[in-house]
Amino acid sequence: MTATVAAADRTVPADERTMSAAEYETWAAEVRRLADERGAVVLAHNYQVPEIQDVAHFTGDSLYLSRVAAETDAREIVFCGVHFMAETAKILSPDKTVLLPDHAAGCSLADSITAEQLREWKAEHPGAVVVSYVNTTAAVKAETDICCTSSNAADVVRSIPADQGILFLPDQFLGAHVKRVTGRSNISIWAGECHVHAGISPADVRSQIAAHPDAEILVHPECGCTTSVLDLVSHGDLPADRTRVLSTGGMVTAAAASTAGQVLVATEIGILHQLRSLNSTTEFIPMNARAACRYMKMITPAKLLHTLRTGEGAIDVDPQTAARARRAVEAMIAIGEPGRGGE
Ligand code: 13P
Ligand code: SF4
Repeated sequence: MTATVAAADRTVPADERTMSAAEYETWAAEVRRLADERGAVVLAHNYQVPEIQDVAHFTGDSLYLSRVAAETDAREIVFCGVHFMAETAKILSPDKTVLLPDHAAGCSLADSITAEQLREWKAEHPGAVVVSYVNTTAAVKAETDICCTSSNAADVVRSIPADQGILFLPDQFLGAHVKRVTGRSNISIWAGECHVHAGISPADVRSQIAAHPDAEILVHPECGCTTSVLDLVSHGDLPADRTRVLSTGGMVTAAAASTAGQVLVATEIGILHQLRSLNSTTEFIPMNARAACRYMKMITPAKLLHTLRTGEGAIDVDPQTAARARRAVEAMIAIGEPGRGGE
C-alpha cells in the first residue's frame, strides 16, 4: 500500500536521528511496549521527525493514514501528525480514542478558511459541488460534499459530472494543478496556501536545477513552484520523463524505484528521511532546505512517550459535526487507487 514501509526493509541513515542508536532502541522499545499495553496503533505522517517515522506502526501520506484509521482494529489511535489529521481519524473512527501528542500542532493551510467563510462562498455559488482538501477543520468538512488529498484530488474532481460547477478549497496551488490535469474550467479555487510549500519558490527551482542539471524532480502540488516547474517542462527546458508532481506517498513510491543519481525534492524536508531510508544509492536533495513545518515538528519523541504513558491528548469532535464530515471523508476514501500517490 502507498507509503508504508516495514521497518525491517529500511536502512536508516545514521545521521538522520538526533538520538544515538542506543537511546533510540531504549525509547522505541518503551513506545512499542506502551502501545501494546494500551491496544494502540501509532500512525506517523511522512513529515514527522525520523525517530517517530521509524517507530510508528504505519508511516505514510494523509490518504493512506486516513485509510488505516478507518480500518484499524486497535482500541486507540495515537496520531503523530497535525490536528486536522487526528480529527479526520476521529471522524472516521468515532468510537475509538484518538490521541494527538500536542494539540498546538496546527496547519496554516487548514487555518486559511473557516466554516463561516465557506458558507458565504457556497451562498454565492448555489448548486456547486464543494471539494475540500483534507487539510481543513472538521467544521469545514461538515460543509463539504467530498474531501480529497493530494493523492486523489484529480480523481475526485473527475468523479463529479462535467457540467457541475466546483468550489475547490483551500489550497490555490493544488487547485491550479487539478484544474490543469483535468482540463476543467468550471472550478473556482479558494486563495489559501501552506506557508511551507508556498515558500518553495520558482527562484529555488531555478538555482537548484542549475546546480543539479541531471537530477529527477519530485514536486508536491501544494508548492508555490509547481506552475513554474510545469512551465519549464512545457517549454522543453525540463524533460517531462524526469519531472513529477506527487503526494508525499507518491514520492516515497517513486524514490524506492528511482535509479537516478540525484533527485530534487520540493516538499517539507521531513520526507527526506523516508526517501533516503528506501534508496541509499540515489542522492535526495531538498529544493529548499529551509522548508520545515514547525507544526509537524511539535510532535517530539518525548511527547509521544508522555502520551502513551498518560493517555492525555484525546481529540473530540462534536458528534453532529463529525457525522456530516464523515460523509465527505468516506466519499473521498472510496475514490482513487490506494497505491498511486497523485499525478
Ligand atoms: P500528503 O497528503 O501528500 O501527505 O500531504 C499532507 C500535507 O500536509 C502536505 O503539506
Ligand atoms: Fe499544513 Fe503545510 Fe504543515 Fe502540511 S506542511 S501540515 S499543509 S502547514
